[in-house]
Amino acid sequence: MLKLPGLIDPHVHLREPGATHKEDFDTGTSAALAGGFTIVLAMPNTKPPIFDASTLELALDGAKQKARCDYGQYIGAGPGNAEIAASLAGTAAGLKMYLDSTFGELRLDDMTLWQPHFEKYPKQFPLVAHSESRTMAAAILFSALYDRPIHIAHVSLKEEILLIKAAKEKGIKVTCEVCPHHLFLSKDDIPSPPSPLPEGEGRRGEGRMEVRPRLATKEDVDALWRNMDVIDCFATDHAPHTLAEKDSENPPPGFPGLETALPLLLTTVSESRLTIPDLIAKMHTNPRKIFHLPEQPETWVEVDENAIYEIKASEQFTRCGWTPFEGWKVKGKVRKVVLRGKTAFEDGQILIQAGYGQNVRRS
Ligand code: NCD
Ligand code: ZN
Repeated sequence: MLKLPGLIDPHVHLREPGATHKEDFDTGTSAALAGGFTIVLAMPNTKPPIFDASTLELALDGAKQKARCDYGQYIGAGPGNAEIAASLAGTAAGLKMYLDSTFGELRLDDMTLWQPHFEKYPKQFPLVAHSESRTMAAAILFSALYDRPIHIAHVSLKEEILLIKAAKEKGIKVTCEVCPHHLFLSKDDIPSPPSPLPEGEGRRGEGRMEVRPRLATKEDVDALWRNMDVIDCFATDHAPHTLAEKDSENPPPGFPGLETALPLLLTTVSESRLTIPDLIAKMHTNPRKIFHLPEQPETWVEVDENAIYEIKASEQFTRCGWTPFEGWKVKGKVRKVVLRGKTAFEDGQILIQAGYGQNVRRS
């Protein structure tokens, strides 16, 4: 039996408010516990988006009632809310800036709209950017100009990880996360659509593989593995959409990931591609430091390192009802999660009530 500290996922979409048919704070934090996570930080691209005091309160109310693990809630950077967002920095998980193609309404295309956020958001609170490729280079330049830390979400490309490596070597305060799906899947896993598309039928397969950032080439995947020391955190970007939505004509991007991240990564530990200290650094120590998260006393995860089994959506707690890793054989199973002295999960059962979870910014 392997004992790990409570894992931290700094990037999840729990869909509350506004899309609770996909997920809510209850099912999302249950999925987190089943995956060995005891803190999740929820993204603001909900309906309505979280961008001011009243929407932040709306999300935090839902979380307070329903969350089973500890949580934080991001505030989104919009075109006119830099001052308001900055004033809420102490209660939010961090500021999320959407600078590239995404799901939802929050997006800042124009660099003059980035500026007030870089200027005003207090330097001691986390700023996270969804910025890909050249946009990422621009976001890192902004962080250097304003001399403030920036965390780059879901790095997926070779050019990105190499630029982050170079920026770190220059002393720029940049950190980054990589998602398991960008380590385990590539473009080659996207099935080609049947042509012509059968009359009246939605798409099947290729819609499921839609995700932002998109699945990349094998060369990109290899570059991420080769630069493991540049990666600060593993984050799931848990982005649940239902199968009906994924198989529709207009599939929204996103994969669920909370329940598959640890087993997939533990499997690579058993193959000597990753080490346990690496895993603890990227799923606990580094995110705790980067996002200034509190210590969770009497909190740990017990893992059976030798359990071999198949990933099955039917055994998951996420409401979305599917996983891109269906049928994958993995080695390493979460047996038990103890959160602040209470057994929260054991042998496939959630044992903690909704509302036990605490806001990591409560003080
Ligand atoms: C995210 C979602 O569904 O909310 N989708 C995704 O593919 N990652 C949006 C996002 O994080 O950009
Ligand atoms: Zn996301």
